[in-house]
Amino acid sequence: MTQRAEFAASVQPLPLPDADRLKLDTAAIDAVRLRGAAMEPRAGAWQEGVVRLLNAALATELVCALRYRRHHHTAQGMASPKIAEELLVHANEEMAHADRLARRIVQLGGQPDFSPKTLAARSHAPYDDSLDLKTMLAADLSAERVAVEIYGQLVALIGTRDPTTRRLLEDLLGQEQEHAEELEGWLAA
Ligand SMILES: [Fe+2]
Ligand SMILES: [Fe+2]
Repeated sequence: MTQRAEFAASVQPLPLPDADRLKLDTAAIDAVRLRGAAMEPRAGAWQEGVVRLLNAALATELVCALRYRRHHHTAQGMASPKIAEELLVHANEEMAHADRLARRIVQLGGQPDFSPKTLAARSHAPYDDSLDLKTMLAADLSAERVAVEIYGQLVALIGTRDPTTRRLLEDLLGQEQEHAEELEGWLAA
């Protein structure tokens, strides 16, 4: 090979072994187009089931918001004013989670259930009215772990069928994990 030919070969673009795989699945696209706006016969029942599960999560968030708020006020006169303030931050974040769940329930055609009559029974995590800070924090950590478990299960149940609800649940799952880690830190301090 002459020097010029060698140079020409060296400036050739490198082969891209993965480039052939950059193709859309046209059969899947055709299938979606053919389905058009047709609803699955069981879509209504599935959606109702999702709303029922989201309402249980909503009840859990509301009970968590109440428990944290109560803990914030009770802990205020205690040794750790900073933790008392953080408990209020958690209370407000759980309330924001409740609002996001309620919004999604309405988008799915359901009714968000805020009834105080049945709230405690519908919540996955209990209320807590203990008096010492350590017991309060332990109750909060336990509830956060329950929330992590619920959202993990819900994400798995929704699968790929409802990406909007799934993204919401994944987001809440991440925030509950952060809450749990914070509580573990405060308890260990
Ligand atoms: Fe929450
Ligand atoms: Fe939380």
